[in-house]
Formats: sequence, C-alpha cells, structure tokens
Amino acid sequence: MKYVTAQDIFRRDGSRRGLPAWTYDNSELTRLEIEQVFLRNWLFVAHVVDLPRSGDYQCFSMGDERAVIVRGSDGEIRAFYNNCRHRASRVVPEEKGHCGKAFICPFHGWSYNLDGSLKNIPKSDTFPQLDRAQYGLKPLDCEVWHGLIFVRFGGDGPSVAQMLAEAEEEIGFYRIEDMQRLGDSYDFRFELDWKAVVDVDNEGYHVPIGHPELFDLMGSTYTDQRTEGGLSRSQGSFRDRKFRFERNREYVESLPDDSYLPESHRHLWIYWGMFPTFVLTLFPDQIEIYQFFPTGPQQSIMQGVCYALADDRPQMHRARELNQAINMGVGNEDIQLIAWVAEGMRSSTYDGLMLSDLELGVASFHNALRDVLPVLDLAQSPEPGTLEQVNANLLAQNKVAAAG
Ligand code: FES
Ligand SMILES: [Fe+2]
Repeated sequence: MKYVTAQDIFRRDGSRRGLPAWTYDNSELTRLEIEQVFLRNWLFVAHVVDLPRSGDYQCFSMGDERAVIVRGSDGEIRAFYNNCRHRASRVVPEEKGHCGKAFICPFHGWSYNLDGSLKNIPKSDTFPQLDRAQYGLKPLDCEVWHGLIFVRFGGDGPSVAQMLAEAEEEIGFYRIEDMQRLGDSYDFRFELDWKAVVDVDNEGYHVPIGHPELFDLMGSTYTDQRTEGGLSRSQGSFRDRKFRFERNREYVESLPDDSYLPESHRHLWIYWGMFPTFVLTLFPDQIEIYQFFPTGPQQSIMQGVCYALADDRPQMHRARELNQAINMGVGNEDIQLIAWVAEGMRSSTYDGLMLSDLELGVASFHNALRDVLPVLDLAQSPEPGTLEQVNANLLAQNKVAAAG
C-alpha cells in the first residue's frame, strides 16, 4: 500500500486555508452536498448480525430518500426504496424490526415479498389492469463487505470492496463477519454544519493537547495517513508504554494475552476512513463504526455502533468496558472542540485556517469535496437561488480544462 505525502495534498491551491466560512452555513449547499455526496456514495447501515432472520429489516434515510434493508427467505440481504408503489407511504412503520414473510404497507395494505416483488393488492379489481411486475419495490444498490451492509442511492462509482481494497488484508485479520453487536448504537446530534464536525475528527494534530488520556495511551506513535486510493488510515500503538492515566493502564492490562490477531496488531488502535464519512476503528478487543451525516442546514448527526467476537472472559469484558469509557471521554472532548471552532468560524474576524502537514486529513477531505463541489472554492457564497447552477458551470469548466 502506498501513501501520498502532505506535499502532494497541499499542492492544491487554497488547501492550507480550509473551506471558506460561508460553506459552513448555507442551506442550498447542504442540499447539494446531500444530493452530490451522500446520495452518490456508499453509506454503512448495519452488520449482517443485526438482521439474523429472514424478514428482519432495518430502515435508513438520507435527505428525502428512504431505504429498507431486509434479509430475504433465501438468506440474501437486499435494499429497496422504502416507498409504497401505491401512494408512497413507508412500507414498514418502524425503524427496524421483523416483517414476517412480507412487507404490508400500513396505509392500504399493499404487500410485497422480501425480494421486493408485489405480492397482493387489496380489492385489486378496483384498479385498472396493472402489470404487477412493474409495481414491486424499487431496488437500491446494496453490498455486504466483511459482514458490513452498505447502501447507495445513486452514482455509479466503484464497489465497496474496490474502494476498500487497500484495507482488505488488514481488515481480514479481525474476522468482522463473525462478530456480534456490542451494546446499542449511539447518536450525537449537532446544531452545526456536518463539515464542522467532520473537520475535527479528520486529524490527530490535536491529540496531544485536546485528548490527554488518548495521548497518554499512544504517545507520539499516533499518525494520520492518506492512501493513494483515497482512504485515510490512522494508527497509534500502546506497546511498552508507561501510563499516567489509571484507565489506560487497566485497559492494557485487561487485554487477554492470547488473541486471534497477529502479534503486529495486538497493541494497535487503527482507524480506516472511506469518503465521505465512514470510519472503521479496529481495536484489539472490538471494532467501532461511525459516520457523520447532514440532517439539514446547521443540523448533523454522528452515528456509531460497536461489534466484537463472542468472548465471555471477564478480562475481555473489562477491557471492552474501559475502551468504551476512554473513547467516550475522547468524544466529549471533541464535542467541546467542535463547538468552539464552529463559533469561531462565525466571527466577523474569521479569515481562514492555517493547516499543518499533520492536518493532511482535513485538507484531503476538503479536496475530495472540492472535486465534486467546486463551488466550495469561491470566497463568497453565490447569489441566493444560484448555487446549484454555479456549481454545475464550474464542474463543466473544470472538465473542459482537464480535457484541454
Ligand atoms: S400507500 Fe401503501 S398501500 Fe396505499
Ligand atoms: Fe478528537
């Protein structure tokens, strides 16, 4: 695997200075980000273990789009738009659950088989002759990778397996497909633009000062890197360290000596990131997956969930508890930092960032967004009502320039 250098990343004009302040507070831009970024890339929804039986389902929404992911009677996981073909109601009332052998729409009772095909229309003789094959639930791209289920509402980019190919070998060590859910998923909601939240998560330059306990665990072994394939990878090691924080010492001592991981990975915390905001954290005792999404202008959410191999050893149980407590502390520290930075960017004195080489993750994320949304390079926001068109014009210009 090859990494790109900070020099490569910062070669792009303006990349040291971050995105202009207006881009963190513009409802037209949020809408376009949802359309062009989140509705055109793979989004993690659940682990196959969350849908163990045929008929188990889970819903997922992004912008105006709704998905339902279900395990079929053949055991396959499939995704559909959660829109009834009669009058567009949701076809399942709950966010997750079990629907038996069919989805039965809660409005008038149209029903659908678990493969999406139309099963039954109540009082069907009151409708004109319908070609029933045309009235199944509309399918969505869905891919299961190491037991993790992703959906994509649009776009035609590479598969999840292709996008994460550089992580494949390492992730294979962890047996993610055999894992169980560890506790409930969690949500943090922010009354802030989603990018303000992600920016803080995209670099480890702040770890020594912003996260004293995490820094005590890993010291200066912590590094952030960017692969040639566009993934981010960060890691820190706690091998042979002396700890100031009792919780770190107890965590490391609790980790059982015999592990299914190779020796090289027993003392590492590793964070893999895939555009736009998927993060897979590999710990020796569990994994954690989190993502950030815009839920509206100045509204965003961080969703996370942990999985682990079945392991009844009290020592392992304790290690997992301590890991989650340490990471909860880190999360609370980040929430404060996110709020302070977002406040600062609203000030009349704000005139851009000054990023270090160690913050290459922030710049490379901004660069990936700029590729899709060149409007982010404008110093001032476009006139109200024109942002989408201005962005389309800039994209067309860039295409011409690239071809020329
Ligand atoms: S909207 Fe679903 S049955 Fe009428
Ligand atoms: Fe942080």
